[in-house]
Amino acid sequence: MSSDSTHGHRFMIPKTSAPPPLPPHEKERLIRDLVQQFNEIDATLVAHYYTDTIVQELAEACGGFIGDSLEMARFGAQTDAGVIIVAGVRFMGETAKILSPEKRVFMPTLDATCSLDLGCPVDDFAAYCDKHPDRTIVVYANTSAAVKARADWVVTSSIAVDVVKHLHAGGEKILWAPDQYLGTYIRNETGADMKIWTGSCVVHEEFKADELKEMKQRFPDAAVLVHPESPAPVIALADVVGSTTQLLNASKQLPNPLFIVATDKAIFYKMKQASPDKAFYEAPTAGEGATCLSCAHCPWMAMNTIDNLKKVLNALAGGASEAHLTDFEIIIDADLAAKAIIPLNRMVNFSSRQRQK
Ligand code: 13P
Ligand code: SF4
Repeated sequence: MSSDSTHGHRFMIPKTSAPPPLPPHEKERLIRDLVQQFNEIDATLVAHYYTDTIVQELAEACGGFIGDSLEMARFGAQTDAGVIIVAGVRFMGETAKILSPEKRVFMPTLDATCSLDLGCPVDDFAAYCDKHPDRTIVVYANTSAAVKARADWVVTSSIAVDVVKHLHAGGEKILWAPDQYLGTYIRNETGADMKIWTGSCVVHEEFKADELKEMKQRFPDAAVLVHPESPAPVIALADVVGSTTQLLNASKQLPNPLFIVATDKAIFYKMKQASPDKAFYEAPTAGEGATCLSCAHCPWMAMNTIDNLKKVLNALAGGASEAHLTDFEIIIDADLAAKAIIPLNRMVNFSSRQRQK
């Protein structure tokens, strides 16, 4: 483990390394066996693009879902499966549970968290909000249920700009947390009056603008795709800025033969699957001063290993005791959930209205 800090809060970053790829016939057998287990327990798998390729392949094979954090939340609420296994990070499992309290939500490990969540403890956040009672509190989905419960709005990167534009048009001043880079990007895009918490994502803050500029010169045909959790000088070099799904869509729609991508490299699985003739390069992270703690792969997403998935499936299939299932199950205090669902529903309803336009 190495340590990092955001908004003055220190935390440990797990060291993870991807297991070597399995020979094709072993992988096929493994996926077949796991799909059977999913079917036997009437569970579905909802995975984020940043999980390892084999986890995404499994989600496809078992009729589950792969998406950005907003789509994962929507899918969880709509699926008929009584049991949802979320391969992602903790806030994604919590969001699924809050939006679908009647369903049981499990994760391969409850230790998979996020530097933005860790950098925004609820007590400090509540004190910050108390100092600014005149502001509308808008938080990123990458936060704990307790922080959401203190907010007026929750947003993901796919609709953050639109929501703040809407609030700004209504004359509202904003308190934003926790991602400082996404907050700055939203402020630049909307012109809203925003107070911004200083959290950051350990993956995206490592992308380096000077090296990216050099890379663009070396590959003049390339389009640059950037997630808005990246620093402003990196965003300034982007052809497209957006959520993971928006970046994936851009990689399909743009005619460029190659793409430089400033987000977690696990998304290359879906990008290459959609556009096998295009090339995808990681944006540089190893510039001067870089610690490369993450090297374009989220250390917490990497905890969604097949071994951990097997553990939760085995616990569910073997009728493990309720006590044992708590190692994997998302449980949220009912009062907290009742508060957190209010800003979450605002987000979901806002996005539904947008989709109908
Ligand atoms: P998306 O909402 O774009 O999937 O982002 C989630 C995330 O954690 C990015 O680091
Ligand atoms: Fe959090 Fe960054 Fe990992 Fe996304 S990539 S889950 S923001 S640490």
